[in-house]
Amino acid sequence: NKRPIIIQGPMPIEAENFAKRLDNVKVEKSGTFVFYKGTLNGYPVIVAKTGKGMENTAAATAIAIEKYKPAAIINQGTSGGHDADLNVYDIVLGKRTVNLGALKTTSKLENEGIDPTTWIPMDLMASEGSAGEDPNAEKARYYEGDAELLAAANAVKNTYKKGKIVEGTIGSADVWNNEVDRINWFHEKFGSSVEEMEGAAAAQMAKGYDVPFLGIRILSNNKVNGGKYDPNTAAANQEYVYEVVKKYIAEK
Ligand code: 5AD
Repeated sequence: NKRPIIIQGPMPIEAENFAKRLDNVKVEKSGTFVFYKGTLNGYPVIVAKTGKGMENTAAATAIAIEKYKPAAIINQGTSGGHDADLNVYDIVLGKRTVNLGALKTTSKLENEGIDPTTWIPMDLMASEGSAGEDPNAEKARYYEGDAELLAAANAVKNTYKKGKIVEGTIGSADVWNNEVDRINWFHEKFGSSVEEMEGAAAAQMAKGYDVPFLGIRILSNNKVNGGKYDPNTAAANQEYVYEVVKKYIAEK
């Protein structure tokens, strides 16, 4: 009667490889979300195909927590690099996860234009009052990766041969950034190592329910250093995350 570990993947190529590795799989659906309930070395593991983006991920996470009472959640998949030292096939362990879409603009009158580099990170969780008026909300909200999950991930680093594995900051929003100056702005303002479209939504829900959480993201592309998109990175990440889960449950 152990509580399951949930492994989330947004796209079919980011979830199905892992689901295939489980034993005794039963498929359950909720709306557009697909849950592959199985076991790994006798331990309950559920792969969740969430769909892409923040909304899908937040809903899929909250539903999974209510339905399955997980012991831990790993959100994994592909990402784009915000750091020139990271190459396609490198993997970022989310020591922190942050919503890159939570912003407040400065104040300008009609015909004064728009100026995205002056926008300010906004923390929607700072208070129950208006985030637009609250000076305490003028900061980014970082969700910490769970220490035990991070330790398991670091412990099996050497099983991964296709790139390096580093701790870093995973940034999320329903935006695919291709402007290098804008990417550099996020890198400086939020400290982002990579961007994707799900991690912060899952982390926010996990935090709300006090469920241990870790984001694990492989670079499938990196605009900053010319790294070309490679869809095979999705499978490589799942191979590594499989090792992380085995390590984590071995110590439970
Ligand atoms: N920017 C945003 N999302 C990315 N993804 C991979 N690379 C990037 C990138 N450079 C992931 C997202 C989403 C899908 C479009 O791929 O997490 O699920």
